[in-house]
Amino acid sequence: MPRQYVANGARAAMAILATLIASHALRYYGVLGHVWLGIDPKLRAVIEHAPVQALTHMLIAPIALLVGPFQFYPQLRARYPTLHRVAGRLYVAACLIAGVGALATAPYASGGPVAGFGFGLLAICWIATTCAAWRAAVRRDFARHRLLMRFSYAMTFAAATLRLQIPIGLALGASSYSAMSPWLAYTSWIPNVILVALYSTAEKRRRLAIAAE
Ligand code: HEM
Repeated sequence: MPRQYVANGARAAMAILATLIASHALRYYGVLGHVWLGIDPKLRAVIEHAPVQALTHMLIAPIALLVGPFQFYPQLRARYPTLHRVAGRLYVAACLIAGVGALATAPYASGGPVAGFGFGLLAICWIATTCAAWRAAVRRDFARHRLLMRFSYAMTFAAATLRLQIPIGLALGASSYSAMSPWLAYTSWIPNVILVALYSTAEKRRRLAIAAE
């Protein structure tokens, strides 16, 4: 079934990218031991200005990025439902803690107030959507839970889309990450959210058409 191959390919690509980016973020653990290896000087300034907020975000967010993709494998969910629930709680906790850290770091964003506003808005939407998705699961409204978790991970995956867009920005002439971050604070997540909305609408239409046959 070609559609299934596309879905499996997309999930695998998502898991690989998420794993690579979360592993790269491990360098921020070095900061706890005053090792600043591979850290942009402007981001170092952000961390030195707001260490608790920034490190809470940068050390915890990769957990959400890493755990998320595996929650979307139907076979894993069906075979190991307890693992799905435990990993789900870990994902929600990581999003909420890292989201509060991100919101508190946004005013100090290295790209200035426009970047700070975009990241702040993302943090609020991330926290709200993840909470709503979790509440839907508790109420056993699994259709709503599935939909809201897609939106939640679309925002978590901003960490990956942002880093994929950096080489494009540099190729287009931007001088540094901070110079392009007023754009990245929006382009890293709004397209992901639109994509999930379009995919979910098309899926619903397909289901209704099958039911009507
Ligand atoms: C989805 C909501 C997120 C928001 C609102 C957010 C917000 C922020 C903000 C404001 C900064 C400071 C950037 C600057 O000064 O320009 C930052 C940096 C960072 N964030 Fe996030 N972030 C989010 C998701 C994630 C995720 C899922 C990860 C997982 C890898 C992550 C990892 C990092 C890292 C490692 C940095 C340091 C900068 C870098 O290495 O590029 N963030 N984030």
